[in-house]
Amino acid sequence: MTRSKRSQKTQSAPPPAARILVLHGPNLNLLGTREPDIYGRTTLADIHAAMEARARAEGTLIESFQSNHEGQLIDRVQAAASEGVDFIVINPAGYTHTSVALRDALAAVSIPYVEVHLSNIHAREPFRQHSYFSDRAAGVICGLGAYGYMAALEFALSRLREAQH
Ligand code: DQA
Repeated sequence: MTRSKRSQKTQSAPPPAARILVLHGPNLNLLGTREPDIYGRTTLADIHAAMEARARAEGTLIESFQSNHEGQLIDRVQAAASEGVDFIVINPAGYTHTSVALRDALAAVSIPYVEVHLSNIHAREPFRQHSYFSDRAAGVICGLGAYGYMAALEFALSRLREAQH
């Protein structure tokens, strides 16, 4: 065996790329036109494109999933565990204030997550001020508009970098 072949054989495979899943709850497909005074004019496609570019620069895989259906979001969280997702960024939207079942799914898979809201839910109607997700979140970002997703992504990337060392 030549020297180069031998060294190739002993080289270990590079670690698999880290994976981030971004979950968006109901009505967030309408971002850009939905109550722009509250949620801004940035579309979900814009948010995803910016997050994807940033994650790609770090060699991290990122996938975005939006659904208006609670069960589909739960199925996506459950699938994330078998897919080896390392971190979740989630805006549960209206389910923030109602969904024990989606909270339970996140608890079941034990994947760390950051909760994001475009608006400052604490400055709005009283029913928006309780979240079923915040107490289990690594952190909560609200009121920063679309920038909140980028802040959550930076946090996730730094956590994943730390985990690789
Ligand atoms: C939201 C706030 C929720 O109260 C609301 O139901 C949403 C969006 C936000 O991003 O500000 O749909 O999660």
